[in-house]
Amino acid sequence: MRKKIIAGNWKMNMTPSEAVELVNTLKPLVDNDEVDVVFCVPSIDIIPVVEAVKGSNIQVGAENMYFEEKGAYTGEISPAMLTDAGIKYVVLGHSERREYFAETSGTVNKKMLKAFEHGITPIMCCGESLEQREQGVTMDFIRQQVKVGFQGVTAEQAKTAVIAYEPIWAIGTGKTATTQQAQEVCKGIRECIAEIYDESVAEAIRIQYGGSVNAETAPDLFAQPDIDGGLVGGASLKPDFGKIVQYKQG
Ligand code: 13P
Repeated sequence: MRKKIIAGNWKMNMTPSEAVELVNTLKPLVDNDEVDVVFCVPSIDIIPVVEAVKGSNIQVGAENMYFEEKGAYTGEISPAMLTDAGIKYVVLGHSERREYFAETSGTVNKKMLKAFEHGITPIMCCGESLEQREQGVTMDFIRQQVKVGFQGVTAEQAKTAVIAYEPIWAIGTGKTATTQQAQEVCKGIRECIAEIYDESVAEAIRIQYGGSVNAETAPDLFAQPDIDGGLVGGASLKPDFGKIVQYKQG
């Protein structure tokens, strides 16, 4: 059985002092050892958040990372900087990064390889636009994102990876994909992983759904056979995140 992984993606929200305050509010609410709980936070919040979560079940992730070891890459953050600060996960290839910061599946792939090299678990995002969904090319597009993203990733590494299926039209819109739509694509992603590797990798890899997840939609989504948790934006900044993590008790 795959352990569910419920991650918050704070995006560009929370100053360091606000971040500590939020962690202190959420800490007792997300206390649930049955699931992996991850807070993916802005770079400048990493150090205070790692300190603030000490002694709790919360793990800390970054929202991005560069694929080089070190050097003249002004403004970037290296994998070693992240691991030294206590980071376990990194979100890679979020649609906002693809759209606003020219991230491609090729650069995502380089970052994936680098993250594994440093023992950081990638949460690789994929997802279609509304136009692509309407054109009926959703699965073709996502399969391409997954295939390029995982190029050169070994089976043993892939087993530990997390993929977040985030339809772009559902992000920040309040429009959650239906449970059926989310399950269908997550299943398709698992089949794609089985084609690239084999059934054992497909069975082990964790696939999240993301896009307007809230306390009401989480229980049904997370009950689907191919949905192993969620990547939560807006609702991860509120006490609601506690309800999402405790979705079974709702
Ligand atoms: P929302 O939950 O705010 O729609 O954001 C989803 C997301 O992009 C998480 O990475």
